[in-house]
Amino acid sequence: MKHDNCKEGGFLTDPEIENYAEMHTSPESDLLHDLNRQTNLQVLMPRMLSGHLQGAFLAMLVKMIKPSFIVEVGTFTGYATLAMAEAMPENCRITTIEKNRENAALAEEFFEKGGYEEKIELLVGDAMDFIENLQFGSELVFIDADKRNNKKYYELILPKVKPGGFLLIDNVLWDGKVLDEKPDKDTQAIIDFNVHVQNDSRVENVLLPLRDGILLVRKK
Ligand SMILES: C[S@@+](CC[C@H](N)C(=O)[O-])C[C@H]1O[C@@H](n2cnc3c(N)ncnc32)[C@H](O)[C@@H]1O
Repeated sequence: MKHDNCKEGGFLTDPEIENYAEMHTSPESDLLHDLNRQTNLQVLMPRMLSGHLQGAFLAMLVKMIKPSFIVEVGTFTGYATLAMAEAMPENCRITTIEKNRENAALAEEFFEKGGYEEKIELLVGDAMDFIENLQFGSELVFIDADKRNNKKYYELILPKVKPGGFLLIDNVLWDGKVLDEKPDKDTQAIIDFNVHVQNDSRVENVLLPLRDGILLVRKK
């Protein structure tokens, strides 16, 4: 079910509840709908894509925060990137990082389709190679790549986030496996990361049981 230590699917919410929630959430744009479809047709493990509900949640946060600089680690085919881009203010820019070239190619195609090629910078390669050189002053960061490295990404990125800025970390409930008595290595890394944030006096945090769990963190 997993690929590259990334989440494929089989999330916690009851499918009927998720369907009901989507029916009472603003619809996704034609562009996002098409990207979702093309991802399902062309890419392995399409369920890694954020999807309608999570995309709408990210878009709503972007409208609330009104950031001028967003960072995403783990683009996949660009669904969350585009959901955020559609909601961001005119002056905002997004830097998103993806190591898989095929995923990045489809994302790029859709960034161009939406006319966002000037506003979205897509870096192709291992996130670890780029993060050190990322500019400071991000107000919103979405960490959604190889979950085992969540803590490394968090520690490298947090100093680059403005005070009062937000980080979102996806899949922190890992299909509910965080409650396992004998967690496997991946699950243990997620458990350790969640504890790390809970004990971090530099931030405030709330774990939202949306989809596979999103940890919403505010830098003090
Ligand atoms: C869960 S998917 C991202 C989903 C996407 N954020 C969305 O919401 O639709 C995780 C992605 O992270 C990428 N990834 C994994 N490890 C990475 C790394 N070290 N550097 C950059 N990208 C990585 C994978 O190739 C995959 O496309």
